[in-house]
Order: sequence, then C-alpha cells, then structure tokens
Amino acid sequence: MAALTMYPDSERLDGGNRVAFNLYIITAVTLFVLMMLLGLTMRLGQATWLSVPPDLFYRILSMHGAGMVGTAALATTAVMWFFLRKYVRLHLWAFLTNYVMFMLGALCIIFAIFVDGYGALWTFLYPLPVHGMGLWSPNAAALFMLGYLLIGVGMLVFYLDAAAGIIRVHGNLGRALGLQWLFRGTIDPDHPKAVVASTMVVIANTLGILAGAVVLVMGLVNIYYPEMALNALVAKNLIYWFGHMYINATIYMGVIAVYELLARYSGKPYPISRPFLWSWAVSTLFVIIVFPHHLMMDYAEPPWLVVMGQVVSWGAGFPVFLVTVYGALTNIYRSNMRWTMPSRLLILSMFGWAAGIVPAILDGTVRINLVMHNTQWVPGHFHFYLLLGVLPMALALMFHVIGQRADAPPNTAADRLGFPVYLIGGLIFVLAFLDAGHLSVARRMATHLPAWTATDEVGSIGAILVVLGMLYFAIRITVGLLKAPARGEPHGGTANTAG
Ligand code: HEM
Repeated sequence: MAALTMYPDSERLDGGNRVAFNLYIITAVTLFVLMMLLGLTMRLGQATWLSVPPDLFYRILSMHGAGMVGTAALATTAVMWFFLRKYVRLHLWAFLTNYVMFMLGALCIIFAIFVDGYGALWTFLYPLPVHGMGLWSPNAAALFMLGYLLIGVGMLVFYLDAAAGIIRVHGNLGRALGLQWLFRGTIDPDHPKAVVASTMVVIANTLGILAGAVVLVMGLVNIYYPEMALNALVAKNLIYWFGHMYINATIYMGVIAVYELLARYSGKPYPISRPFLWSWAVSTLFVIIVFPHHLMMDYAEPPWLVVMGQVVSWGAGFPVFLVTVYGALTNIYRSNMRWTMPSRLLILSMFGWAAGIVPAILDGTVRINLVMHNTQWVPGHFHFYLLLGVLPMALALMFHVIGQRADAPPNTAADRLGFPVYLIGGLIFVLAFLDAGHLSVARRMATHLPAWTATDEVGSIGAILVVLGMLYFAIRITVGLLKAPARGEPHGGTANTAG
C-alpha cells in the first residue's frame, strides 16, 4: 500500500530538489540553535546569572521573537513542499525564491537590530518603532519592516505557486479542501491530507500576509511622512491578524509530517474521513477570524470584534487538533510501532500540541486574559506548542530523511539520549514559564524582581538542556543531509523493512 511505503520514489530528493531542501533544513537548524542561545541569554539575564543590560535585552528579544517565528515558518514550509510536490506540480524556482527572499529579509532584520539598535520587538507595534528615544533611528525601524516585507513576498510567491498547482489538479480550492464531501458522497480514499492542509494554509496565510503587507507599507510611509499618522488600533488589528496567522500556519504546515509519516512507522493505514474534512473546513474560516483574542485588553476595540475573538477562540484550534490527535492515537493503538527518532518526535509533537493548547485556550478566555495576559503565562503556552509541538513535527521529517541516507535507522545511542534531554529540558523550561505566570511574573521584562528569580533559575536549567538537545539534533541532521546518498538506498521499502 502506497501510504505505508517508507521511502516512496515520489519523495526522492535529486539534483536541485536536494540542494534546495538541504539549504532550507541546514539553515533552519542552524538558526534554531542560534536563536535558542539568544533565548537562553535572556533567561539567564532574568535569573540574574548573567548581566544583560536592558537595551541589549530588548534587541535580543526582538531578534529571538522575529528569528524564531521566521525560522519555524522556514522549516515547516519545507515540510509542506516536501509532501505537496508529490500530489501537485510545484516549481523549484518558487521554492528557491522564498528561500532567497527569506535570507535577504533576515539580513535586513539582523542589520536593523545589531547594527542600528532596533529593539521594538517582533510585533513592531505602532507607534513604538518610530519612537526609538535615541536607542535606534527611524531608518532602523524601516529596515526591520523592509526585512519583514521581503520575507512575506517570498512566502506569497511560494503560496501562489502552490495554489496554482492545487487548482490545476483539483479544479478549485474548495474541492481541494474536500468541501464536496462534507454532507454526502463517497470520499475519495486517495484524496491527500497534505493537499487539504496545504490548501487551508494557502488561503488563510495569504490573507494574513496581505494584512501584514498593508500595515508594513503604511508603517514605512509613516516613518518618512509622519504627517500621515496611522490609527493605532487599526494598525494593531492588522499586525495581530498577520502575526497570529503566520505563526499558526507553522502548526498547520508542520502537521502534514504527522499525516504522511505516522502510518509508515505504525504500519497501519491512516485513512481520510468526513470529520477530518469538516475540521479543516471549519478551521480554515476560524483561524482567519480568531486574532481579536489578542486585543481583549484594548478597551477601544469594537465589542463585536472582541466577542468574535472570544467565541472563535474556543472553537478555532479544536477541530483540527481533536481530529489529528484522535486520529494519531487510534493509528498507534495496537500497532506495531517502530520506535525510532521520527516516530518518537511525531508522538512528542502530538503531546506538545495537545498540552500546549490548554493554557492557550485558558488565556483566550476574557476573564482569565484580564489577569494572565501580561504575565509569563503567555510565553509559557506558546513555547509549549512551538518547542514541543511544531519543532518536533519538522524534526521528525528531518530525521526521516537522514534515515534514508544512513545504513541504520535514526535510533543510535546518542539519539536515544538526545531525545529525552530535549524533552525533559523543554518541559522544565515551559513549566517554569507557566508557573511564573501563575505567580504573576510580568512578561517581556529585562529586569526581574528578586521574588521572581526562582522560576527564572529553573527555566534557565531547562533551557540549557533544550539548547544541548537541539545542538545535537542540528549536528546530526546537518551531517546526515550532507552525506552522499547510500548506494542501496531503501527506496520503496515498506514500513516493516525500511527505516
Ligand atoms: C531554548 C529555547 C528557548 C529559550 C531559552 C527561549 C527564551 C525566551 C525568553 C526568555 C523569552 C522572553 C520571555 C518574556 O516575555 O519574559 C522568549 C520570548 C519568545 N520566544 Fe523563546 N525561547 C526558546 C525557544 C523558542 C522557540 C522554539 C520559539 C518559536 C518557534 C520561540 C519564540 C519566542 C517568541 C515569539 C517570543 C516572544 C517575543 C516577544 O515577546 O516579543 N522561542 N523566549
């Protein structure tokens, strides 16, 4: 059965495809390590184990936030491309254009932060970027925004190519989502889940990126023509529409690895179903309109937007999440699971997503948000599903690919040690943030009060373990990808014979 073939020929990485995939992945794992080191620096600073002056802290926080969100998008775009290209025609130039634009944008951002001193965070909330108070110039803010624009345009090129490929095969985006089977009809069992998820991402994230482009261009105009003042609330709505959508898209791109790979390691088919199509259809709409839950504390926000954000918050993440976790659990139940690095990471990603979504939904509830939103509860919940959910989804594909090049499955003694170091470190790190939130420790503060440092210290120890685990993964993956393909590569092997 095709779905259980461990390394199908349609996923072969030859020539330009291999170069492009390696570029994406090696860049992503390198950036993850570097951005984690910046994160560790901040956590050590909050614990007072390291002296980090406030101006440097906010530069590091800006770099870490923008860098991590961008890198998560880079890695999960590679996941989407890797699988979607089997079902629709994708052009390599579009995939590479996205990479080049990402790198150009990243250079602008790095220059704006570390040379020009920009420190107004990854959310560039108007009018903070234009009020550098002598710490950074308007040009630094403009360069930072230009960097975002370049990254967004690259992503749009990739999405438009994906949309064209999907429409060519399925006729329109609705049919690709499987809307024709929502109420009746026999679902085509070969309709790829990867196409459903990619279509959702293309629709929702294109709108989010366009919202971002509008506010970035308005911001750039405002920097050089301050007489054209912006409405701060409109700017904030557009920024959160873009920011929330962009980081959420990383989950929906990354989860394609679960849909495609889990069955190969469990040895059990993972069929498509009507609840699956319903959940993706509902989430396509909900994920676009859920962002006002970031603006619950903005008293000037129109009430109907806040109500929408509140109600949709309870429903937005649930359908896809429930259907995926239920599907994954039933898939591994009584299966002959092969416990190697890819399967461990896939299951970890389900846990990280499931557990991380709970504090997120709590924070999306207005009464709780009132108390928790400016506390470290927030970095607690999003680090949970990004560090232990999204990253493992992308890492699972990376380990799967290097398993093909090695003589042995990715399950060495070092792998078996690296995995728990990352997992245990990650848990300590995120639980320390959540506990700090519970104790009302303020978020985004360079200097912490003495009463707050206990959770900072515990969090720092967890962060050190995560960095060590990720450093090992990065080296292992880079070496594995650069290795020449083995002559007897197990192409076409089945779940029980290859690995
Ligand atoms: C070793 C791993 C990591 C460490 C030590 C770390 C550390 C930190 C720290 C200390 C903060 C500031 C917390 C505060 O508000 O007081 C932060 C914020 C943040 N982190 Fe991480 N982090 C790590 C991994 C990640 C990952 C994997 C992602 C995303 C994929 C991520 C994305 C972010 C974002 C978006 C922010 C918010 C920036 C802002 O508030 O403007 N981090 N991180």
